[in-house]
Amino acid sequence: MADFFRGRRLRNTAALRALVSENLVTAQDLIMPYFIVDTDDSTFRKEIPSMPGQFQLSLDEFEKQLAEAVAAGLRSIILFGIPKCKDATGSEGYADDGIVQRAVRLAKSRHPELVVITDVCLCEYTDHGHCGILQKINDDVTVANDSTLELLQRVAISHAKAGADIVAPSDMMDGRVQALREALDAEGFVNLPIMSYAVKYASAFYGPFRDAAESTPQSGDRKSYQMDPANSREALREAAADVLEEADFLMVKPAGAYLDIIRMLRDGFDLPLAAYQVSGEYSIIMAAAQNGWIDLDAVTMESLIAIKRAGADLIITYFAEDVIKRGLVR
Ligand code: PBG
Repeated sequence: MADFFRGRRLRNTAALRALVSENLVTAQDLIMPYFIVDTDDSTFRKEIPSMPGQFQLSLDEFEKQLAEAVAAGLRSIILFGIPKCKDATGSEGYADDGIVQRAVRLAKSRHPELVVITDVCLCEYTDHGHCGILQKINDDVTVANDSTLELLQRVAISHAKAGADIVAPSDMMDGRVQALREALDAEGFVNLPIMSYAVKYASAFYGPFRDAAESTPQSGDRKSYQMDPANSREALREAAADVLEEADFLMVKPAGAYLDIIRMLRDGFDLPLAAYQVSGEYSIIMAAAQNGWIDLDAVTMESLIAIKRAGADLIITYFAEDVIKRGLVR
């Protein structure tokens, strides 16, 4: 009798809804970021004001927190370091005993099966806060592309030697995937995958991260190397370049405001695709939840399923530890 679509037929019970559910967020898809501080105070543990629930951690505190998270089912992490001293070339970023290098060794020695990813960039280590070294041409100061590549190679090699499972360049210099691949191969790390932050926008959603990693540029911004939020075709060119340079994963960052870009990359490329739900995305949800304006768990899970639905295979998210520990994902 009825000649209209009865979509409700498949929504009547939880079991039916689960049966026809098209996407699922699982613990194995999630990557948890940690901020490790090079400090003599082994009990150092400081909440990041703009990221409630996220901490800067000493190595010892990181070790404790990681043990609990891994016991709960966390399988992958990405590490950021806050060095004792910064300089013009970010030399702590490629020191063999740098903070990230030590954190990698620690994490791998405690949890050999854990996937440990490192962020390859200089902005946390340079005194000027840019992702590469600066050069002055006439009166203009810019980030030098090709000479930065040599330093990024050193960063990646130092991470590889420490035992990283994947290196993830986030600097947005041109040619960095090729440069890293060549350097890693030359050192014998032919099987070490590169997860390229292929499509990384110059986004204001990174604000809280820059507090957390103490990496705000001292002058200017990152618009001469990160992408313009207005552009999507350019994302295809960035991704295609990184595929040619032999990236093993592509990434889109941020995630929530760039779901169209995630879908474009999913449709246009066959590499595993990661999305980074960045600090500002986390902070917005946390702030609204702390005000009682939204339901934290429901909005968190909805934000993650949206990223999967758009086409991401894996998600880097500050919610990873919590949703796994509290059994919101399995
Ligand atoms: C380093 C880097 C940044 C983020 C990840 N790697 C900051 C930036 O580019 O300014 C941002 C992550 C986040 O906001 O959570 N270049």
